[in-house]
Amino acid sequence: MQVPGYRIGGMRILIFGGSGRTGQVMCRVAAEREADVLAPPHDVCPLENAEAVSDTVLNCGADLVVNCAAISGLEACGDDPLSAHLINAVAPAAMALACRHTGARFVHLSTDYVLDGRRSGLKDETAKCRPVCVYGESKREGELQVQEAWEESIIARVSWICGNPAKPGFPESMLTRALTGQALAAIADKTSLPTDAEDIAHAVLALAEAKSRGIFHVCSTGEPMSWWDCAAIALQEAVSLHALPALPELARQQLDAVSFFREPRPRHTAMISTRLPQLYSMPTAEQTVRRAVRRFLAARGQI
Ligand SMILES: NC(=O)c1ccc[n+]([C@@H]2O[C@H](COP(=O)([O-])OP(=O)(O)OC[C@H]3O[C@@H](n4cnc5c(N)ncnc54)[C@H](OP(=O)(O)O)[C@@H]3O)[C@@H](O)[C@H]2O)c1
Repeated sequence: MQVPGYRIGGMRILIFGGSGRTGQVMCRVAAEREADVLAPPHDVCPLENAEAVSDTVLNCGADLVVNCAAISGLEACGDDPLSAHLINAVAPAAMALACRHTGARFVHLSTDYVLDGRRSGLKDETAKCRPVCVYGESKREGELQVQEAWEESIIARVSWICGNPAKPGFPESMLTRALTGQALAAIADKTSLPTDAEDIAHAVLALAEAKSRGIFHVCSTGEPMSWWDCAAIALQEAVSLHALPALPELARQQLDAVSFFREPRPRHTAMISTRLPQLYSMPTAEQTVRRAVRRFLAARGQI
């Protein structure tokens, strides 16, 4: 992994969603870089309460605010569109507006699911947004409201987050199934790019330090990968590290044929960043998955 050159030592950073998959890593990376990190827990600052969110930002003296909080489950958003709207759109707008008042920089995490995913290939920051599910709609609304509240905000669109052993993403979950001898199957006709939470943290901090603004795609590089491809790479890596004795069978599934999703999913949402590489160079998706597997197995004492 490259050693990023940004300097945040001495900065006060307020992180919303610090208990989440990305938020945990963001807090650790910022603290390792000697920032003063504040991360109000859910019960202290519930995001449904826009006034509490605003007061927190106005009173904490932060130089930088990073929003890693969201309702990110698609079915959870579909079941409760009002909460999705409040947490994924209204709360980030309140953060952005409060930052405008205090002069703090603001980074809001968004998603590749704001894209419609109808055509294959990589989408850059100018690609048309047309979400196909409540989650994507609420996140797109959040992007627009944040930009309207404060045009200096940074919107970092991320995809398929993995690499935090404490909060397994897709490759770690498939590996857990394999290690416990369960049957394996993965969807082979939906693509994006698995991205390491640690790279997201470094990229976000580098963007903030450089006083960037606008939309950035913050994701691994390389060709779009399906969930099946991602699982296959994770299993290969586990075999090469002797954590699995041999490659288990991995069945291919089709998105339209599975019955466990109640909300529609966009099919091809892999992104490419035209603006980030000047500041932070992301690894390929394959490197990301292999690294996530190594980190996961090391955390379990299996390598
Ligand atoms: N996961 C992915 O693969 C993925 C892909 C693309 C984009 N994203 C985006 O990336 C960002 C980070 O995702 P993630 O997977 O790291 O998130 P996550 O693990 O689901 O964590 C969400 C965080 O938000 C907090 N939160 C949720 N509802 C809240 C509320 N009402 N009030 C206060 N806090 C609340 C949670 O706190 P508690 O746990 O205490 O409730 C948790 O800290 C999100 O913006 C998400 O939309 C994620």
